[in-house]
Amino acid sequence: MSASPDPDGILVPLLDWYAERARDLPWRRPDCSPWGVLVSEVMLQQTPVARVEPVWREWLARWPEPADLAAETAGEAVRAWGRLGYPRRALRLHACAATLTAEHDGQVPSDLGALLALPGIGQYTAAAVGAFAFGIRSAVVDTNVRRVQARAVTGEPLPAQSLTAAELRLAESLLPTHPSEAARWSVAVMELGALVCTARSPDCPRCPIRDHCAWVAAGSPPYTGPPRRGQVWTGTDRQCRGRIIGALREAPGPVPVSELRALWPDEEQFVRSLDGLLGDGLVEPAGPDCLQLPGG
Ligand code: ADE
Repeated sequence: MSASPDPDGILVPLLDWYAERARDLPWRRPDCSPWGVLVSEVMLQQTPVARVEPVWREWLARWPEPADLAAETAGEAVRAWGRLGYPRRALRLHACAATLTAEHDGQVPSDLGALLALPGIGQYTAAAVGAFAFGIRSAVVDTNVRRVQARAVTGEPLPAQSLTAAELRLAESLLPTHPSEAARWSVAVMELGALVCTARSPDCPRCPIRDHCAWVAAGSPPYTGPPRRGQVWTGTDRQCRGRIIGALREAPGPVPVSELRALWPDEEQFVRSLDGLLGDGLVEPAGPDCLQLPGG
């Protein structure tokens, strides 16, 4: 039984569904450390669970505490990032581990203000780590949560392109009163968005809150707004950057620029992408006309 008010009637069915259907993911287990939760939340931000899980396991086995990662070069973090994409996240986790080690006794702090002050930790990650590692009552609003809210409560087929203050307020108003129930609610809404209330093919017959869903009640109107940003990859600067990083990751030492140049047909795009990587600190010069990951 729930101790929180449930005026919309969605709390109990959603928590029951989560208890029965949720995936057993290592960062959701009660024995997962706050550091494990923090690493998972950074990895999961732009990357699906199936790709994150093996890399997360490797990271936590190799660097079980922030100090273990802080003792490595940033390049090792980038190397171990594998093919997760958006590798600046690896640099941010490395910087975060260094700050935790230097300023927090090697521990992840348990209050939202201190979490937010860590390098690379924004509003979303602070709220997620606060809720999932420490049971703090904080609204965790990722793309899955936004979509579920948009449909179930607002009656819209998809949320706005980027997070609005109204969505945050709505998420806060839906949060159960009790902190531990609030954290379970947030992860349950996320899971519903990931497994059932998906962007392209929502499985409404299997949805535990379909009878309360404003979008279903409105006849499930299709999305008619401007085209959504897709995750284009082929031919983009991101793909070119990925090739360069991939080659540096596999190499035993510094790689000549000419060898990297041979990996991409368009010279202008190669130069732009490499400049970006140097500017981001993901790549650094190493000897005459050679490059390496930061710190070797
Ligand atoms: N469980 C906890 N946090 C999660 C996230 N960001 N994505 C998927 N599952 C999660």
